[in-house]
This record gives sequence, structure tokens and C-alpha cells, in this order.
Amino acid sequence: MAIERTLSIVKPDAVAKNVVGKIVDRFESAGLKVVAAKMKQLSRAEAEGFYAVHAARPFFKDLVDFMVSGPVFVQVLEGEGAILKNRDLMGATDPKKADKGTIRADFAESIDANAVHGSDSAENAAIEIAYFFPASEVYSR
Ligand code: TYD
Repeated sequence: MAIERTLSIVKPDAVAKNVVGKIVDRFESAGLKVVAAKMKQLSRAEAEGFYAVHAARPFFKDLVDFMVSGPVFVQVLEGEGAILKNRDLMGATDPKKADKGTIRADFAESIDANAVHGSDSAENAAIEIAYFFPASEVYSR
């Protein structure tokens, strides 16, 4: 399988719960490498732009409110099949439906405060990585 990069966000609920390290450990233990990372308070415009694809959905305003409610930890993960591997580690969008042992099952409370984001395709991974990191801040290993 090809070496891929994907964008991962530890969302404000998980940052507030002080489980950034525990979540990063899930990725590293599964063979993914952190090749870029920063903590960041998103502005409303940044959160709206990031989730623009959901702009017409009924949950959009609540989603943006949540994403700006505190700092997030944004990272680029690199490894074999990184995009799908990250999605598998995250678990289903609704933590109540997420498989046991996934990040959302273990650290998330609800569908709207669900601990992590992960790119869902190679195309979106490229767009989302560029949204947060210039190429000079991504350290391929
Ligand atoms: P989505 O891209 O469908 O899920 P995922 O994060 O698993 O890729 O949705 C983006 C975020 O929008 C999701 O993480 C939480 C929020 N959301 C809701 O609050 N309610 C919903 O019904 C859905 C589908 C998403």
C-alpha cells in the first residue's frame, strides 16, 4: 500500500479533556508518524471554511460553534494507507455507533463533540493539509 498523508484534528472537547497525548499515541502505535503539528484557536471564518462542504446542513452552526469553543490540535499523519487507517482508528462519526477501542468510542461524548477529525479521501487530505500547513512545515520522515 502507498505511503499517504492525512490531516487529523484533535477537537476542542478532547483538548479540554487533556487527552491529546493519549490520542496521538493511538496513531503512533498503529504505525503512523506525526510529520506536522500545532495547537491553534480557529477563527469562525477558518472553521466555516474548513467545513464549507457542510454549510447547508442543519448542524453547521453548532459544528462551527463547537470548533471555535477552544483550541484544537492539528497534525499531519504519514504512513502506509494513512487515510483509511486514521478513519479506522477514529471510529464512526457518532461515538455511540463507534466500534469498541476506537478513539471516538473511548474519548468522545456525542456526535457533535466527537474528539477527532480525519480526512476522508486523498483529494480532501491534500486540500485539508494545505489549509493548515505550508509545505515547509511538513517534515516527511
Ligand atoms: P462528517 O464529515 O459526516 O463526519 P466525520 O467527522 O466522521 O468525517 O461530519 C463532520 C462533522 O460534523 C462531524 O464530525 C460532527 C458533525 N456532525 C454533526 O454534528 N451531526 C451530524 O448529524 C453529522 C453527520 C455530522
